[in-house]
Amino acid sequence: MVTTNPVPRFPAGFLWGVSTSAHQIEGSAGTRERSVWDAFTDRPGRVSDGSTAAVACDHCRRYREDVALLAGLGVGAYRFSVSWPRVDSPGGLDFYDRLTDELCAAGVRPVPTLFHWDLPLGLDWRERDTAARFAAYAARVADRLGDRVSTWITLNEPAEHTLLGHALGVHAPGERLLFDALPVAHHQLLAHGLAVRALRAAGATGIGIANSHGPTWPASDDPTDREAAGFYDVLLNRMFADPLLLGRYPDGIGGLMPGDVAADLAVIAEPLDFYGVNYYAPTRVGAPAGERQFGAELPFSVRRIEGRPVTDSGWPVVPEALTELLTGFRARYGDRLPPVLITENGCAYDGLDDQARIAYLDGHLRALHEALAAGVDVRGYFVWSLLDNFEWAEGYTRRFGLVHVDFATQRRTPKASYGWFRDVLRAQA
Ligand code: FCB
Repeated sequence: MVTTNPVPRFPAGFLWGVSTSAHQIEGSAGTRERSVWDAFTDRPGRVSDGSTAAVACDHCRRYREDVALLAGLGVGAYRFSVSWPRVDSPGGLDFYDRLTDELCAAGVRPVPTLFHWDLPLGLDWRERDTAARFAAYAARVADRLGDRVSTWITLNEPAEHTLLGHALGVHAPGERLLFDALPVAHHQLLAHGLAVRALRAAGATGIGIANSHGPTWPASDDPTDREAAGFYDVLLNRMFADPLLLGRYPDGIGGLMPGDVAADLAVIAEPLDFYGVNYYAPTRVGAPAGERQFGAELPFSVRRIEGRPVTDSGWPVVPEALTELLTGFRARYGDRLPPVLITENGCAYDGLDDQARIAYLDGHLRALHEALAAGVDVRGYFVWSLLDNFEWAEGYTRRFGLVHVDFATQRRTPKASYGWFRDVLRAQA
């Protein structure tokens, strides 16, 4: 049930926004170079509905209409991603130039993410050199957009890109390397650090990263369950946050990474202006249960969280775990934790009268407010997503938008949640 109490008041200057990513909305695939996602979706059976993102939301051609939707919503900021393969094509930066101008004219702060999983085809995160190439590309984008952009995000969710794309093979590039995927994590972190330096050298300020995080709950108090959950927590949370915020890998991990790890960590730990957190749900984890998960024998098993509603993605709705996550971060990282932005939070539900999404967002805003009350310095919140879009291996079968997209006609229709979020923002103003 959606409570009728208004969402509590957030501090003045709190940044309200929505998020999207290039590959999931842009379309116009023929006007850019190919990415690992294009190659992946061309392989039969990789995307549940057999679709591709060749057209997606046709955003490259309809961006003015989409910026008008942002203005109507009243958000202060829009997080989008820049497609590296588009920037690699002739005139590829022109689109982001126009989009940035359109956002600025509408009074919406552009917040570009430089990598949201669409690696140019031919590049490989197992290669160290990809990190240096990423930093050079970041500098090119900063040279072009830097006069209008004051908030930059280097990478989106290197943990998911490592795990889903390279360890388990359910996302592009579809590698099933299991623990041999660890260099992919290290090279992305190195790419992040080199890009922070390159962006600052180009005069950019306001630089952060967007990492996926969620509490890991042991399936029981049994030591084998606790140990398995602790290991999962290292792989999904600490292996990314510790190097960035503490300048070291969790015990046992650094020795598995390639190259001069100590020297790389000094780059990776370059101070950040903010730390972006993408939060969806906690995970319950226990000892291996004897069955294969994701087609592999893993040293842990992901268990169901009982007694909670689930979204169309099957993800449990647990708003208070966002408070737990953020207060836990504050306790672990202390003053090393820069101001936090919630760079993604949202849910998949069908339908225009999406009361379940309103309940989800309402609950998470209250949980976020509790984290602020507990002393966590959170400066902004971005809903995933503005538009229904291409949800990776789930194709168009999961609708995360505040705005419905009819993929046959490209017609946009604001959902009930769009009106609700607009009213929340007005009340906060
Ligand atoms: C996140 C991704 C984003 C979107 C949401 C639902 O992991 O960053 O692109 O797919 O999940």
